[in-house]
Amino acid sequence: MNLSDNKATMSFSNGSPSIDLPVYAGSVGPDVIDIRKLYGQTGMFTYDPGFLSTAACQSAITYIDGDKGELRYRGYPIEQLATQCDYLDVCHLLLNGELPNTQEKKDFDLLVTSHTMVNEQMQFFLRGFRRDAHPMAVLTGLVGGMSAFYHDSTDITNPEHRHIAAIRLIAKMPTLVAMAYKYKTGQPYIYPKNSLSYSGNFLHMMFATPCEEYKVNPVLERALDRIFILHADHEQNASTSTVRLCGSSGTNPFAAIAAGVACLWGPAHGGANEACLNMLEDIQRKGGLSKVGEFMEQVKDKNSGVRLMGFGHRVYKNYDPRAKLMQETCKEVLAELGLENDPLFKLAMAVEKIALEDDYFVQRKLYPNVDFYSGIVQRAVGIPVNLFTGVFALARTSGWIAQLNEMIGDPEYKIGRPRQLFTGDTLRDVVPQAKR
Ligand code: ACO
Repeated sequence: MNLSDNKATMSFSNGSPSIDLPVYAGSVGPDVIDIRKLYGQTGMFTYDPGFLSTAACQSAITYIDGDKGELRYRGYPIEQLATQCDYLDVCHLLLNGELPNTQEKKDFDLLVTSHTMVNEQMQFFLRGFRRDAHPMAVLTGLVGGMSAFYHDSTDITNPEHRHIAAIRLIAKMPTLVAMAYKYKTGQPYIYPKNSLSYSGNFLHMMFATPCEEYKVNPVLERALDRIFILHADHEQNASTSTVRLCGSSGTNPFAAIAAGVACLWGPAHGGANEACLNMLEDIQRKGGLSKVGEFMEQVKDKNSGVRLMGFGHRVYKNYDPRAKLMQETCKEVLAELGLENDPLFKLAMAVEKIALEDDYFVQRKLYPNVDFYSGIVQRAVGIPVNLFTGVFALARTSGWIAQLNEMIGDPEYKIGRPRQLFTGDTLRDVVPQAKR
């Protein structure tokens, strides 16, 4: 973080003296005004609900240019990572700052692979849930529960613990997501098979049964790997900020990541892929392509409360670069499975076309986000709709843990403690109950 020559001066209309605030420049992207001393100097806080203009930390992991529609992990464009690397390369990059060389890749893949099993006791913990529970409810519990199983990696102040917790989380998330699925369907759990790739192993744990051999389809394996890469990190979004805030108290990494899983569940965030697919299925049920126009009118009517799920983004005011890559993958998967005429895909393309040409969306700079096509891909692969966000959580775990470890390693790190503008009652006395 470099101090810029530029300085901000804040003046007040009530005659209080103006103050100078330092400005810092990042390596790329907007500068920031350092307001840390503002309260001490003026007795005032800043007000920014939803963090529309607030940088809560410095980070060297992910950069987004929302106006241009660019996303980079550690400087590398997402398009290059998605087409030239696999998910474990990206995990190595997010955690360690660099893509692995050949030996590092071998070592890292082996390290992750050797941690894919979960404590056998986890299945009894899982058994406590109703079988019809939402997988995100189950996952929040299972991930939080990991802190009860892996005591030797819960000290967040110990870099060794942080490293091993990161590896454990990345390695075990696919196992947990697949176990949650198997539990729901009533099929036996399938143990990880370490000869398979990360995404191949996930497909195997999800769809193999003990009765017959399961062969991983390389097109689906690659598609899933791409979903993982595209969802791996996205700078200071709601769930990542949740992980940072939760972890800032010094709690253990499993608890902090469980908080991230819980946050991701919401339909305005990771739950959007599920909500988007439900929306497309709903239009389909009501008449499909012929009903798209009517649906879009509802979306534009502020009183309807209907949003076009999979559209719009707090940061992207251009096409989400992940959505483009996802659309490509979607075409590949549907072709591989002979589903080129999939009605939901056609519907999605029609909705996208109308939205991109409609004034309502153009004026508000609403473009498809990554969730718009990822649901169709996952559904084609055979992943049930209510597990979509679980798959997102699996992928985002690498980003969450990289961000958490970056925060703990930052010398400026402090417990997160936002302030407020109090608008409630001023001081008053309790009236005895008989007189209320
Ligand atoms: N459909 C219809 N109108 C929309 C949509 C949408 N999907 N998104 C935003 N708008 C409109 C709003 O009504 C508002 O209009 P107004 O200015 O006339 O009042 C304007 O666009 C700005 O919207 P905000 O809600 O203020 O934007 P914000 O940055 O707070 O929200 C969000 C971003 C939550 C993603 C929003 O676009 C949304 O709800 N999208 C649908 C859900 C979704 O797809 N979420 C996934 C996000 S990506 C991810 O988490 C992986």
